[in-house]
Amino acid sequence: MKKALISGITGQDGSFLAEFLLAKDYEVHGIVRRASTFNTERLDPIYADPHERGTALFLHYGDVTDGASLRHILEKSRPDEIYNLAAQSHVRVSFDQAEYTADVVAVGTLRLLEAVRDYVSDGREVRFYQAGSSEMYGAAKPPQDESTPFYPRSPYAASKVAAHWYALNYREAYGLYICNGILFNHESPRRGETFVTRKITRALTRIKLGLQQKLFLGNLDAKRDWGYAGDFVEAMWMMLQQPEPDDYVIATGESHSVREFLDLAASICGVDWKRCVELDPRYLRPTEVDFLQGDSSKARAKIRWKPRVSFAELVRMMVEPDLELAHQEKTLSEAGHRVVQRGLSQG
Ligand code: NAP
Ligand code: GDD
Repeated sequence: MKKALISGITGQDGSFLAEFLLAKDYEVHGIVRRASTFNTERLDPIYADPHERGTALFLHYGDVTDGASLRHILEKSRPDEIYNLAAQSHVRVSFDQAEYTADVVAVGTLRLLEAVRDYVSDGREVRFYQAGSSEMYGAAKPPQDESTPFYPRSPYAASKVAAHWYALNYREAYGLYICNGILFNHESPRRGETFVTRKITRALTRIKLGLQQKLFLGNLDAKRDWGYAGDFVEAMWMMLQQPEPDDYVIATGESHSVREFLDLAASICGVDWKRCVELDPRYLRPTEVDFLQGDSSKARAKIRWKPRVSFAELVRMMVEPDLELAHQEKTLSEAGHRVVQRGLSQG
């Protein structure tokens, strides 16, 4: 039985990757931050009490800002594969929390790589996946591929560039098996509610049912290459199964504006978004990334990865469960319960 360790297991991608690896009969270990509220909701469908026999998912308290915890977890879990997904992953928030973002995204990766150096020092072998981002291309002209120079436009993106180069340097300097995945935006019904796609599907479905009146957004002209998270985590695993480590762009190759996403989601809901969407400058970024469109020819040829879910299918896949959620909220509200609209002003 192979063992995998996932940092960021409670996030969108971490939860999809954990499911994917469990289905492949891996023993899966995940690093979870201590929080005063539950942060393991996305793992609920696969979590089993550790007292039960046959459990293949194990969670460990740790943090990528705490090198000692990473070393302890490596010793306890003894993984064959490590997926470094932990991040303060919100681009706009990275302007508010620049130092913290660098500490988690850039130095956090370095801490994990240093822990890995110790872990392999007695001859153990491990393969390492680094979660790179299309944000690293920033202002570079599309289509972007592995040879496109990085031009980061936020503290988050600059930190991901640093992490990318740390990973590449550790591969060359110490002969470690490390792959950088450069993933373009990928979404799902589990997407955090402050990212634009989920913010739109949550709000429009609530508006449809009369639970909310307005949706405040920033720049509608930005273009993104949006894929489905379930397809993208598969690419992470495929990279680590190759004979030699390498870096790969993972993207659908199609780009759409925020406005197009809004149009399609609104037409599925039957809502006229022009009546309810308003601009709020707090959602604009000091420096924006205008146009991302990936060229994943290398991954398609070398690791035989390709996306399965189209843009239109993705939008529908996100609207439908949010409509169901809104119906549940409406039922509660009609029964006299207070339905709280959580934190949408933050992203
Ligand atoms: P996400 O939903 O924001 O999840 C981030 C994960 O990192 C969460 O589990 C979070 O824990 C954890 N985390 C944050 N700070 C941490 C710390 N100090 N120590 C340990 N864990 C910490 O992000 P995602 O969409 O799944 O993305 C996964 C990775 O891919 C991230 O590195 C992201 O930057 C990168 N990426 C994402 C995309 C995309 O479109 N989704 C594209 C390219 C690259 P909590 O649950 O406790 O907050
Ligand atoms: N979040 C947000 N909220 N974005 C908005 C809003 C809003 O109200 N209005 C417009 N946007 C625009 C942003 O300005 C950006 O151009 C675009 O919508 C997408 O924003 P996000 O959904 O926040 O994602 P992102 O592209 O900035 O970053 C995501 O993808 C990266 C990969 O390219 C994150 O998942 C990053 O972690 C990831 O690396």
